[in-house]
Amino acid sequence: MPAHGDLVEIRLGPQRAWMVCHPELTHEVLMDPHTFDKGGPLYDRLGKLMGDGLVTCRQPAHRNKRRLLQPGFHPSYVAHYTDLVAEEAEAVCRAWPAGRTVPVTEAMMTLTTRVISRVLLSDALDDTTANEVRDCLTDIVRGLFVRTVVPIDALFRLPTPANRRYRHALSRLHAIIDTAIAQRRRGADRDDVLGTLLAAARGDGAAAAITDQEVHDHLITLLLTGVEAPALCLADAFSLLARHPEAERRLHAELDAVLPRGRRPGPEDLPHLVHTRCVVLETLRHSSPGWLFTRVATRETELAGCRLPEGATVLYSPYLLHHDSSSFPDPGRFDPDRWLPGKPTAEQRRALMPFSAGNRKCLGDEFAMVEATLALATIAGRRRLRHLPGYVERAPRPAITLGPRSLVMACETRSHMPSGAPDSRTAGDHVVDHT
Ligand code: HEM
Repeated sequence: MPAHGDLVEIRLGPQRAWMVCHPELTHEVLMDPHTFDKGGPLYDRLGKLMGDGLVTCRQPAHRNKRRLLQPGFHPSYVAHYTDLVAEEAEAVCRAWPAGRTVPVTEAMMTLTTRVISRVLLSDALDDTTANEVRDCLTDIVRGLFVRTVVPIDALFRLPTPANRRYRHALSRLHAIIDTAIAQRRRGADRDDVLGTLLAAARGDGAAAAITDQEVHDHLITLLLTGVEAPALCLADAFSLLARHPEAERRLHAELDAVLPRGRRPGPEDLPHLVHTRCVVLETLRHSSPGWLFTRVATRETELAGCRLPEGATVLYSPYLLHHDSSSFPDPGRFDPDRWLPGKPTAEQRRALMPFSAGNRKCLGDEFAMVEATLALATIAGRRRLRHLPGYVERAPRPAITLGPRSLVMACETRSHMPSGAPDSRTAGDHVVDHT
């Protein structure tokens, strides 16, 4: 599409829509949320699911909601979650014996479900319920995309197995959240996101009290956003590393030096996990889980010299921007070194938008970066994952998010180089213990 211009008119079924194809034009749209508000087919559908939560709410309601939730995900606060992430990543390693085939995507979904549910609800969900939440989210996300691109509600009322699965997953997720809220109200206060929401519902603090429905909508929203994208990012990172031995070798060298003998990473290690963070960033560039988003013009306006009517659907795509060779040379190549300190240009930093930009930028951006960096460091420090014989790299299949939905890999245990040992290994010959 960029070959056709910076703003390209397309058809979405019977509707006209405009795709923004240039990073600066995308910033222009995202920095003017009063003209380009949340809306369009994606958000209309998501609104039915998430109610009036932070992701779907319109601009006038946004600021208060964001203020309420921001503190728990503020960059200065996310270091509080490092132990929790490392603990859950260690649990993944324990469940992955050497020589076995392991369900990578499923395990990453379990990890991110457990992490976000502990951040939101402390220990309110036992293991079985957390797994049930994970499965419900998988079914919901699967059903959502088709409902977005085929906006014919009658089709989804038919009693097909897929429709029944979607409805069941939705009602179970709502019920699990209602139970967690009711239990907390009967018990003691906790210092977590639910604690913040219930204090706001009691009217504690300066702002007007929020409703019980808002408490529920916020939790659904954060579960839906906090599980799938980070899990797909991690699964993709393992898949890409297995196909790029030089990048994997550099990652292992860093992990062996920073976390000798598989030491658990803490917040003080984050500044030293430079390659690990580069792998996460490059995975988010190469295979951005959030790939397509919509906005709606709240009034007639002009964009890139084109008049857009009120109600026009405008789309932007991190995937498209990240794969434009004028921003990123050889964009199909996975090259974590692009992000080494001092390497990316100011234009490349602006063109990288896996978490969007402006006031609707991802609430969990720094949290997700810390989560993915620490989970990758913990798991890749102890386990090496290989693609199974016959593995074929496939083009991404469009869904609400992009990523390997059912990745299975072979697991080997790594033994560690002693701290400070010189890194004299060549691509792919790092120390692997096959016992
Ligand atoms: C790798 C992981 C993640 C990616 C790639 C990602 C991506 C994004 C993107 C692109 C948006 C903006 C959507 C738009 O412009 O329409 C967004 C918004 C949002 N994300 Fe994330 N996200 C990730 C993780 C998380 C996590 C862990 C949370 C949970 C705390 C979260 C919560 C949210 C929320 C609440 C919003 C709406 C913010 C607002 O409108 O003020 N995300 N995310």
